[in-house]
Amino acid sequence: MYSYAQLTDIQIGGDPLACPHLRPPAPVHPSTVAEFAGLARRIAEDRAGWAPLVRYDAASRWYHRLRTGPGYEVWLLSWLPGQGSGAHDHGPSSGVYAVLEGELTEHTSAGRRSLAPGARHVFAPGYAHEVVNDQLSPAVSLHVYFPGLTEMPMRVQQCAAGLPLT
Ligand SMILES: [Fe+2]
Repeated sequence: MYSYAQLTDIQIGGDPLACPHLRPPAPVHPSTVAEFAGLARRIAEDRAGWAPLVRYDAASRWYHRLRTGPGYEVWLLSWLPGQGSGAHDHGPSSGVYAVLEGELTEHTSAGRRSLAPGARHVFAPGYAHEVVNDQLSPAVSLHVYFPGLTEMPMRVQQCAAGLPLT
């Protein structure tokens, strides 16, 4: 026999999180890196939502703003073979990006890596890279910026001089 002094609140009243109507509401907008990565994952998994929006433009990368929220933006980009971003950073923005279809190659000061569907990548303000589609097939990618991307300084001189993207 227990006295109430020996029981926990959950033993006495039950677990409120086991009752859906008592759970705190899911946040409408992400506010942490994990929540932004979760948003990118959910959008990536919703192929029927983004695939009909994709266009390809032979003149330049095509991009479409998918969503905005308080302090963030979500962009959908398409890349034909040979198209690239040029070397750049993202000013004060942090971000999450993911390849949805095809394969892209990213160049940073740490080297070169392949970006394929299924992974999400997070960066902090000042992160510099160059992304190119050096494959023979088109690619589609998703980019979440928080705060929204207000500047994307190009690093043309660094690139032309063969200097690392710092
Ligand atoms: Fe970028």
